Amino acid sequence: MSYLMPTYARQPINFVKGQGSYLCDDQGVEYLDALTGIAVCGLGHCHPAITKATQDQASKLIHTSNLFGIPWQEKAGEMLCRAAGMQKVFFANSGAEANECALKLARLYAHNKGKSHPKVIVMQNAFHGRTLLTVTATANPKAREGFFTLDNDFIRVPFNDVEAIRRLSDDTDICAVLLEPIQGEGGLHVPSDDYLESVADICQTNDWLFMLDEVQTGNGRTGKYFAYQHSNVKPDVITTAKGLGNGFPVGACMVANKAADLFGAGSHGSTYGGTPFGCRIVCTVYDNLTHEVLTNAANQGDYICKRIQDEFSSQGVNVRGKGMMIGVVMPDGTDCTRIVDYARDRYKLIINVTGGNVIRLLPTLNLSRTDADELIARLIAVINDTLQA
Ligand SMILES: Cc1ncc(COP(=O)(O)O)c(C=O)c1O
Repeated sequence: MSYLMPTYARQPINFVKGQGSYLCDDQGVEYLDALTGIAVCGLGHCHPAITKATQDQASKLIHTSNLFGIPWQEKAGEMLCRAAGMQKVFFANSGAEANECALKLARLYAHNKGKSHPKVIVMQNAFHGRTLLTVTATANPKAREGFFTLDNDFIRVPFNDVEAIRRLSDDTDICAVLLEPIQGEGGLHVPSDDYLESVADICQTNDWLFMLDEVQTGNGRTGKYFAYQHSNVKPDVITTAKGLGNGFPVGACMVANKAADLFGAGSHGSTYGGTPFGCRIVCTVYDNLTHEVLTNAANQGDYICKRIQDEFSSQGVNVRGKGMMIGVVMPDGTDCTRIVDYARDRYKLIINVTGGNVIRLLPTLNLSRTDADELIARLIAVINDTLQA
C-alpha cells in the first residue's frame, strides 16, 4: 500500500544514484538516461560544480525571504536576463508557476487597457502546467477533465497556423498569445522557420503580448540559451523552469518591452521564489552552460537525428527536433505502448513516448560522442525490435 496519491502511472523501477548521463537503480543496474528527468538535468546528474555549490550554499544560507535583499537572486536575475535577452525576471518554483505569472501579466495588461473579458490565444497540443489557469491553457482534455477550467478566457488555434491567429485580429478581448517554440509534451512539434516571426508581427500589430513558454525548450535544450533565439523576434514574456535548476525546483518568468513594468510591489509573490539556495544553483547552471556546451547540444543533436533518420528512412520513421530535443516518429499503426518498458528492461535505455507514437529523446546537453553512439546503438535496437514485433 502506498500513501502517495495515484497521480502518476509509475514505472516499476527505483533510481537511487546518477552520474552524468547514467542512472543506477536499487539493484545496482546502470541505465543510459535519454530523458534527464524530462528535460531537467541538462548538465547531467550530480554535475560536480552544482553539487559543490549546493553543499556550500546549504552550509551558509538556504532561505531568508523576499522581504529582504537576496544577492544571489540579483546575480541569477542578471545572468538569466542577459542570456535570454530580457529586462526583468520573477523567480518562481516550477514551470506552471512561471506560466501562471505570465498569464496574470497578460490579464493585468488587459485590465490596464480597460478590457473586461481578457482572452489569451493558446495552441492545440499545448502543455503549460497543472494550476487552474495553466491547465486551462493546456490542450490535453484528460488533464482538464472535471476541473471546471476557465475556458472562456482562452481561444485555442492549431499550432504552426499563422492565419488562424491573424483571423482573430478583430477580437478586441484578446490580450496575448502564449505558445511553446517547440511543443514538447504534445508530440514534439517543430513549427516552420518563420512561424515565430509571423506570430510576433501579428502581436505587434494588434498590441498583444507575445509570450513564449520555454519551460522545456529553454536553458540550452535546443542548442541556444532559449529556442526563440533561432529566430529574429523579441518576446514580451518568456517563462522557463526545468533545466534552470538542473533538478532543483526553480522557475522564472521574464519580461521585456510592453510587459516590462506591469507588476509593482504586492502584484505577485512566492515565499520560496528566488531563495539564496535556488539562485546560487541557477548561477552555477548558467556558469556551466557555456558556449561549448550549447554547441555540443546542437551538434550531437544533429548527429543523433541524422544517424536515426538514415538508419530508418526507408521504413517510414521520421525524426524531428532541434538540439537535444528530439522526436522519433514511428510509422502509423506501430504499437508504441510497450516501447518505454522494453527499452528500459531489454536495453537499459530510458526514453519516453509522447503524442501516441513519438519516441522522445531529451539527453544531456554535454553528452559525449561515445555516449551519443551508445544511445544511438541502443535506440536502433529498440526501434528494429519494435518494427519487427
Ligand atoms: C512547455 C511546458 N510548460 C510548462 C510545464 C509545466 O512545468 P512544471 O511541471 O514544472 O510545472 C511543462 C512541463 O512539462 C512544459 O513542458
